[in-house]
Amino acid sequence: MRKKARINRREVWNMKIAVAGTGYVGLVTGVCLASKGHHVTCVDVDEAKIQMMQKGISPIYEEGLEELMHESMDNLTFTTDYASAYKDANVIFIGVGTPEKKDGSANLTYVYKVAKQIAETVEHDCVVVVKSTVPIGTNDKVEAYLNANLAHDVQISVASNPEFLAQGTAVRDTLHAARIVLGVETEQAGTVLKEVYADFDAPILVTNRRSAEMIKYASNDFLALKISYINEIANLCEIVGANVEDVAKGMGYDPRIGNRFLNSGIGYGGSCFPKDTKALSWLASFNDNEMKTIKAAIEVNEGQKLKLIKKARKYYDEFEGLTVAVLGLTFKPGTDDLREAPSLVNIPLLLDDGAKVKAWDPVGVKNFKKHYPDEIEYCDTIEETITDADICFIFTEWEDVTQFDVNLYKKLMKKPIILDGRNCYSIEDFRGTGMTYDSIGRQCIQEA
Ligand code: UGA
Repeated sequence: MRKKARINRREVWNMKIAVAGTGYVGLVTGVCLASKGHHVTCVDVDEAKIQMMQKGISPIYEEGLEELMHESMDNLTFTTDYASAYKDANVIFIGVGTPEKKDGSANLTYVYKVAKQIAETVEHDCVVVVKSTVPIGTNDKVEAYLNANLAHDVQISVASNPEFLAQGTAVRDTLHAARIVLGVETEQAGTVLKEVYADFDAPILVTNRRSAEMIKYASNDFLALKISYINEIANLCEIVGANVEDVAKGMGYDPRIGNRFLNSGIGYGGSCFPKDTKALSWLASFNDNEMKTIKAAIEVNEGQKLKLIKKARKYYDEFEGLTVAVLGLTFKPGTDDLREAPSLVNIPLLLDDGAKVKAWDPVGVKNFKKHYPDEIEYCDTIEETITDADICFIFTEWEDVTQFDVNLYKKLMKKPIILDGRNCYSIEDFRGTGMTYDSIGRQCIQEA
């Protein structure tokens, strides 16, 4: 391992690091590690993606990522040639996807594919770090697999280092992590990983591998549970005349509860909460230890995603012939990711019912067109989208939506009925305006 010139505060050990997978986790990890002076090679099977990244173009939309890529280009290599990346790496991160299988369990095909490539190619002792979210016990199995299949006489140890970044804030979450969890079984793996993160300003928690794997699931599933809980409270607020925002605020003052992740809406989406709740629930049931709380969180979330469609039925018996405006397609702002987005559940229902759908999203349209190339009229502005619409659905709280002049809904829509799945506006903005504004867990203003 090379010793390198001073970087910021201290003398750090600049390592040769390989990162397998250039999705949100792999690419952001690779770029952030390179920005700290490590020599990072990012490996992916997708030649087109690699070529883009070699030119400094990020294949994903993530704030600050491309800029950091440019700044760190001297320390970054992108390649499909995994053998050259792995053979003399000090540390190899596995950051490939672990998608959901039909039964809800995690699909580890890509993790083992990389493990096989590592076993065949490493020529020096190294630490293999599993960053992908994997079921508890997987790190043990990966280590056993590697040891049984190593082509060269080398020592490897496997460590778990779960990722806690959220899409849209991934770079910030990585550079200023709330915590870095290192699940290790050998002192050497712990020492190497502490060096990898030596220049990161975050508390480091060292545990055994199984605890580290569990911390990841337990954290994501707790957040999903928190969201489903506040959504159920919101639904009840609507019935009993309480305001969920005030309720959440009142709860959040209690430091034992905390005020974050208490925003009610049309449910959580994305590539993580839906997958990780199902995976943990599957793992628990498989071990004859059903997790009732997580199962409930999943069930509540599925119902919540249909909340706006149910509300819409109050205003129209059917959607046939109606012009429906849709604001926001992605599962949350700041990303072009559509995975498990409420838009993907609701728009087909509207189309099936014969509605004419006009949709706007600042970055998600390209991906949405892969699902619906022609069935939807995609618009460039919110104004264009809502013009002549009979009803408007808000699925994502993009800033363009939250900052939008609400008077324009009245001015431009045929009938100003706004169903807000993300509570983008204050209900007071609509009182006395002649519009209908129906949001989540708050009084419905029904004036249109
Ligand atoms: C989530 C976690 O927040 C990260 O810590 C974790 O590392 C990541 O999963 C992962 O496992 O890779 P992410 O899915 O990118 O990150 O996005 P979040 O900001 O957590 O939002 C997830 C969903 O929950 C979104 O649909 C969002 O709209 C919804 N949400 C979030 C709410 O409905 N209410 C809230 O109060 C917060």
